[in-house]
Amino acid sequence: QGASSLDISSLTRQTGLTTLDNGFVNTASTKSAITFIDGDKGILRYRGYPIEQLAQHSSYLEVAWLLIYGELPTADQLATFDETIRRHTLLHEDLRRFFDAVPHTAHPMTTLSSAVSALATYYEDVLDPNDPEAVEASTIRLLAKLPVIAAFAYKKTIGQAMLYPDNSLSFVDNFLRLNFGTMAEPYQVDPIVSKALERLLILHEDHEQNASASTVRLVASTEANMFVSISAGIAALSGPLHGGANEAVLTMLARIRDSGESVSTFVERVKKKEEGVRLMGFGHRVYKSYDPRARLVKESADEVLDGLGVHDPLLDLARELEQIALEDDYFIERRLYPNVDFYTGVLYRAMGFPPRMFTVLFAIGRLPGWIAHWRESNADATTKIGRPQQLYVGPAERDLGR
Ligand code: ACO
Repeated sequence: QGASSLDISSLTRQTGLTTLDNGFVNTASTKSAITFIDGDKGILRYRGYPIEQLAQHSSYLEVAWLLIYGELPTADQLATFDETIRRHTLLHEDLRRFFDAVPHTAHPMTTLSSAVSALATYYEDVLDPNDPEAVEASTIRLLAKLPVIAAFAYKKTIGQAMLYPDNSLSFVDNFLRLNFGTMAEPYQVDPIVSKALERLLILHEDHEQNASASTVRLVASTEANMFVSISAGIAALSGPLHGGANEAVLTMLARIRDSGESVSTFVERVKKKEEGVRLMGFGHRVYKSYDPRARLVKESADEVLDGLGVHDPLLDLARELEQIALEDDYFIERRLYPNVDFYTGVLYRAMGFPPRMFTVLFAIGRLPGWIAHWRESNADATTKIGRPQQLYVGPAERDLGR
């Protein structure tokens, strides 16, 4: 399945040569058994299982187990996993007060990354990467508490009281209630929203050595604990060229709508590479055909918006943009297709999430993948500290002259 490869380390030692690979376009940083992608054929598999099957028939926690432990759980294993995660949702009360110190204007991704680092400070005795029990405890704590932190970060931005988790609810329903429930009224989860969110989370669970997973592995390679490694992954995900693209897509669509500019004029500006103008949600380092996740999200978009009785003109705009781009030579020659972020924003918006929460939802989805990468790297005795080379292009030796 894999392409041919060359282990460069012995060659480097023998020849003293260094390869420059800007953006790691060609250099594999690791071997991995978690996720397989064929970017030309548009194939994505977690531990060998096609994403289409998992999105259709699995739950977020079942896929999390699969990614982390390598096999599908038995019914008993899944039930115990689910129950253990439900029992670990509470945050220390002092950590709850962490949110008092964050301005309500803070981007929730920044809050999320900071709070996950802060979470590590409560578990100093159980952080050792070489202690299997600590690794299990960190896995459960992160899976259970990240959604709560995420919902707290959201409540902070809208000035509402934070709710305590309701552990009688499923993972996804608990999360929805923490975001949209209030102290004033009981909250009823809409099954259409719950099902759609579960599906979107599954689609995001892993994507091999992207910028955030690679960041997690790089930090893990220093034997740093799982919490701070994941916090670094969240920071990497926040950028608009990575997970932040889902928010950027919606901003782009809203700008086009508000400016009154036609879609084709906007596409012309993209092609001229006007400063800061890209077709957000298009293009991918690995997929040179339609991103299979984008196909599944696009299918869900109609279903969910119809089910919720929402008509969103931004979805019409997105469809028009896609249609024009897919027939345009600029995009055809460069093999630019919609990626997972192109349609997700429209769906999140229909569910009631504001754009600033979109990347946070991505982070919750991606967490099992980051944990799987951290654990794979940590368990591999051949892992070396990640330490890229550079080609120095600065001044030769100079004399301070004093
Ligand atoms: N709009 C317009 N042109 C584009 C786009 C785009 N979205 N993406 C790539 N191109 C063009 C580049 O300008 C370049 O053109 P050139 O050959 O004339 O110089 C060519 O396509 C190749 O692009 P690169 O930037 O070299 O591709 P790279 O693999 O480095 O970047 C990336 C991939 C970052 C995803 C890029 O396609 C992009 O910026 N897309 C928009 C942001 C986005 O949607 N990110 C989400 C990615 S998926 C994810 O992280 C979950």
